[in-house]
Amino acid sequence: MNKKMNDLVNFLKNRGFIYPSSNIYGGLANSWDFGPLGTMLKINLKNYFNYFFIDMQENNYYFDSSIILNSKVWEASGHLKKFNDYIITCLNDNQIYRADELLEEYTNYIFENLTILEVEKIIQEKIKLKKYGDKTRWSKISSFGLMFKTNYSKTDTKVNEVYFRPETAQGIFINFKNISDSLNLKLPFGIGQIGKSFRNEVTPKNFIFRTKEFEQLELEYFTYKDRAKKDFDKYLKLIDLFLLNLGFKKEDLIKNDIPKNKLAHYAKKTIDYEYNFWFGKKELLGISNRSDFDLKNHSQVSKERLQYFDTTSNKWITPHVIEVSMGVERLILAIFNKLFVKEKERNILKLPFFLSPYKIAICPLTDKLNYQGEELLFNLKKLNIGPIILQKGGSIGKRYRKHDEIGTFFIITIDFETEKDQKITIRDRDTKKQERIAISEIKNYLQTKIKNIF
Ligand code: GAP
Repeated sequence: MNKKMNDLVNFLKNRGFIYPSSNIYGGLANSWDFGPLGTMLKINLKNYFNYFFIDMQENNYYFDSSIILNSKVWEASGHLKKFNDYIITCLNDNQIYRADELLEEYTNYIFENLTILEVEKIIQEKIKLKKYGDKTRWSKISSFGLMFKTNYSKTDTKVNEVYFRPETAQGIFINFKNISDSLNLKLPFGIGQIGKSFRNEVTPKNFIFRTKEFEQLELEYFTYKDRAKKDFDKYLKLIDLFLLNLGFKKEDLIKNDIPKNKLAHYAKKTIDYEYNFWFGKKELLGISNRSDFDLKNHSQVSKERLQYFDTTSNKWITPHVIEVSMGVERLILAIFNKLFVKEKERNILKLPFFLSPYKIAICPLTDKLNYQGEELLFNLKKLNIGPIILQKGGSIGKRYRKHDEIGTFFIITIDFETEKDQKITIRDRDTKKQERIAISEIKNYLQTKIKNIF
């Protein structure tokens, strides 16, 4: 881990955002737990995804499927056969590597343009690890399934073998008929789902960037084949806006049109959004045209008609799917990368209001004023603008610095005059500007200051 990442990991641990998982038992490699503040940030991000991609759209709906599905789902979706990485072992120390990553790091060859035998030959002949030099020895390449297996009953037989989902999307596809029939939906419509996905990644790395367990935010937009391109472009624009609203700038929206030979097995077209992380430019999220691939395959294998009766043409058609897919943790890492700003005298987490874990911290100047703080807390909570904290004790400067670091949007100070004049001082996180206003004016003040509640 480079120094910037290392500093961030320590900061996030000390401030209650993210902890190394299973710490008291020596940890579990590349696995992380979200602390109280990290969880608040996660909830805010998920709520915003729902608001933006479901509530604000015309015909989009929520969904929540099981994590473990019948194994036939993964047979039909192609994941059992095709969701693999190619791995190779260094025989000197039995360390396992992804063949494509080795090629990318050590050579100019492009993995997708070669056969597996060719890749194997290049690695064996040309790649010498620093630690072993000419003595580096490699195994043969093998294929490694990325899905997590488990057993669905007490016995350990193959019949009961099931998998944790590697994407939330399939739970939506297999319920296409349930959803469209029960809600009597007309094309086009979208189904969004947020939930855990699991991948037995060979090389999890870069903190929460790539882990084996993570949360996905996905939207499957079912549409007509001849509208698919238009809807793809519509969602591309929406993703731009979503990222800008989170605090990214235009120059951060780096789009990578994935070449045909690099597409996932289900995709007809994919554009990945990349972000310049401290450790390099990497995929942040993706939008794909999955065509009718998934519904067709599930219809074939299940023998259920996963189709839509189009009353204009009087025909059954298989809708095409535009998919928006992003990882919660990966987005959060990019948000820290972008919005955690070091100034001369302070650090600020410049979150938009709707993402901030705490919207306001109320700071009575001394303990003698705490009871007034409690009263104000009680009254401000009624405004329903999100979590507000009463931050008692310690120097006011220290309290400012702490709340700037965790992204608290406003700080309200109660002083000895407050009781007499019923006024408080309210401080804006980003400008540090302080204004003395009447308690009765706080609501109006917030309404004029907050652009995006959301
Ligand atoms: N349903 C489509 C799909 O799953 P993907 O490109 O494999 O597509 C979508 O994953 C997004 O999920 C990625 O862009 C990334 O944000 C997130 N993601 C994928 N694998 C991840 C991992 N191992 N750890 C964290 N996030 C991951």
